[in-house]
Amino acid sequence: MPAATLARMPSLDHLIRSNREWAQKILRQDPEFFIRLSKQQSPRYLWIGCSDSRVPANEIVGLPPGELFVHRNVANIVVHTDLNCLTVMQFAVDVLKVEHIIVCGHYGCTGVRLAMSNERIGLSDNWLRHVQDIREQHSASLLQVQDAADRANRLCELNVIEQVTHVCQTSIVLDAWERHQPLTVHGWIYGLNNGLLRDLKYTASNPGEVVSEYSQALTALLPADR
Ligand code: CO
Repeated sequence: MPAATLARMPSLDHLIRSNREWAQKILRQDPEFFIRLSKQQSPRYLWIGCSDSRVPANEIVGLPPGELFVHRNVANIVVHTDLNCLTVMQFAVDVLKVEHIIVCGHYGCTGVRLAMSNERIGLSDNWLRHVQDIREQHSASLLQVQDAADRANRLCELNVIEQVTHVCQTSIVLDAWERHQPLTVHGWIYGLNNGLLRDLKYTASNPGEVVSEYSQALTALLPADR
């Protein structure tokens, strides 16, 4: 290959260099960190969040590698036939025995905004259809929010609430609760503009809590609460 062509080849050397610096920084603080971590992981939390690059799971809760098991997809959707998400959940609950599952959405979610506005982008429309189903389910409540951006953010909140219910309805979580394995499911939302998490007050530790917590979370979303 001519040298001129080689020179134009896109390079990601800056990321490799950055990785070296990151690893060295950790080793300066804890020389055994990677050796210890390579032997086993025992995270207490499963994070189900949006793929959005502005919502880096570990960073926003200040947890180092090894502490958070993570599944991310566009608009943090939990679908009962999504083998990928179900596999992550089953591995986390049955093998790693995580004690908490956090569904974390975020305000300003592009996937939710597209679902809200019916904007077509291609294949992903089919995935985002799940969010549109939630939009239709809660159309009366959404219509009460006047501002379009606020309305999309309300759908971000409603989406988290519905996805928490989906997590609670999986055979994985129901079976864990049936055998009295400690497992709590939480619904949170993250603010891109302030870096802060907000608890949406939907926290379920057994099947009996799902219905009451769901209603409580919806009630807490009254427009006056914004
Ligand atoms: Co998003």
